[in-house]
Amino acid sequence: MLKIAVCVSGGGTNLQAIIDGIKYEMITNTEISVVISNHLDAYALVRADDNKIPAVCISPDDYETREAFHEAFLEALDFYGVDLVVLAGFLVVLPPQIISKYKNRIINIHPSLIPSFCGKGYYGIKVHEAVLERGVKITGATVHFVDEGTDTGPIILQQAVKVEQGDTPERLQRRVMEEAEWKILPKAIHLIANGRVAVFDKTVMIEE
Ligand code: GAR
Repeated sequence: MLKIAVCVSGGGTNLQAIIDGIKYEMITNTEISVVISNHLDAYALVRADDNKIPAVCISPDDYETREAFHEAFLEALDFYGVDLVVLAGFLVVLPPQIISKYKNRIINIHPSLIPSFCGKGYYGIKVHEAVLERGVKITGATVHFVDEGTDTGPIILQQAVKVEQGDTPERLQRRVMEEAEWKILPKAIHLIANGRVAVFDKTVMIEE
């Protein structure tokens, strides 16, 4: 059984997709051991509570130093026996020590087709604003392993989504979630939990 920590900062619709994926067996061999939020008022914590999943708030604001926050974060992962860390809209940058300790065991969902509209400053609604401003016709979402860079790790799955005329950033965000994020994040977890994902340097091989 793969024990996962789902890390969130906000609404937690991707967390909900994972909860539902496990419930309806689109994701097998997986248990959410803990939900970690950096905001006490994140709605994702309500979703965890509603589903009787242990949840903790670990925020950099509550620690005197960034190192103390990192230590607390690592302690929580250890305490809950986490095998895979899932960043599902977690807007806190993790340091190289945590990334190297959990090499190829941290995944992230990003709301664009990497390498477009990613990296520093591209998160949440800002991504969709930039997509519309540039006028691209196809966007989407990406699940990738996390390395030391920002959105630079090995890509596991991507799903394209059409940009429609008249889209607002909010409408596009919603469609990217519905048509891409809520599908590929649960699928990536299922594939990893069932030993069907292998990483060779920057390339991910998937046994279909
Ligand atoms: C999602 O769209 C996710 O892709 C994005 O934050 C949103 C969280 O929504 N993540 C990033 O932009 C990371 N760079 P949710 O809380 O409803 O799952």
